[in-house]
Amino acid sequence: MVKDSTNNQNLLTLKNIESGYGHVKVLHNVSLKVKKGQIVTIVGANGVGKSTTIKTILGLIKANAGEIKFKGETINGLETYEIVASGIGYSPEGREVFGNLNVYENLRIGAYTVDKKDFSERLEEVYKLFPRLKERKNQEASSLSGGEQQMLAIARALMQDPDLLILDEPSLGLAPIIAEEIFNRLAEINQMGTTILLIEQNVSLALQLSDHAYVMEKGKFVLDEKASVLAENDYVQKTYMGIA
Ligand SMILES: Nc1ncnc2c1ncn2[C@@H]1O[C@H](COP(=O)(O)OP(=O)(O)O)[C@@H](O)[C@H]1O
Ligand SMILES: [Mg+2]
Repeated sequence: MVKDSTNNQNLLTLKNIESGYGHVKVLHNVSLKVKKGQIVTIVGANGVGKSTTIKTILGLIKANAGEIKFKGETINGLETYEIVASGIGYSPEGREVFGNLNVYENLRIGAYTVDKKDFSERLEEVYKLFPRLKERKNQEASSLSGGEQQMLAIARALMQDPDLLILDEPSLGLAPIIAEEIFNRLAEINQMGTTILLIEQNVSLALQLSDHAYVMEKGKFVLDEKASVLAENDYVQKTYMGIA
C-alpha cells in the first residue's frame, strides 16, 4: 500500500515537553517536528532521555507539561492503546518480541487492531519485506538471531500499517552488516510512504538514512538540523562519530 507522502505537513509535533519519572525530571523543554514522509532521528549518548521521549509520545509515561500532536490532534493524555490505534507503530529498545510465541503469532499480536480481511494483505506485505521471517514463520521467536528478532519487532509494528513508525535503537547489539541490512529495509519502508522516527547511537548510519536529526544531551535538544548538515558538523563528528 503506497501512501500519499507528497505533502509537507507536520505529522507529529512535540512542544515544550517536560517529562520524567516521579520526582526525577528527565526531559526539559523538548520540542520536535516530524513531517509526513520524513525519516527523523534522535541521536545522543546513553541515558540522556531518548527513550523517555518516545515513552512520553506513546503515553507510557505522562508529560508534566507541553503538548504532543499527531495528525493535528492532541494526544497527550490519551491511553497508550488509543495512541497506537491512531496510527503509531512502535519497535521498542531491546526488541521485546514474545520469545515463546512463533513468528506468525508475534505478527498476529501486532495486528490486533487490523480486521481479518486486511490481515492477510499486511502479512504478505511484511513477509515480502522480510522474507527471512516468512521462512521462519513457525519458529519460536526466542530461537531467532538478534537481527531476525529486530526484523520481527519492526514487522510486528508494521502489521497495523502505521502512519508513523517509531524505532528505539534498532541496530543495538547487531553486527554492522546486519545493522546495514535493517537500515536498508527502513529506507524501503519509508519509500513506501511510512514516516519514521528513529533513535540511534550509530550516528553515521542514522545520519545517512535520515532527512532531519536532533542531538539530545541531558534531556534537551542541543542541535537540530538537516541530517546531511549535521553529518558535516565538527562537534557532531568529534563527539558522536569518532572522527577527530
Ligand atoms: N523507569 C525509570 N525510572 C526512573 N528513572 C528512569 C527510568 N527509566 C529511565 N530513567 C532515567 O532517565 C534518564 C534517561 O533515560 P533514557 O530515556 O532511557 O535514556 P536513553 O534512552 O537516552 O539512553 C536516565 O537517567 C535514566 O536513568
Ligand atoms: Mg534508550
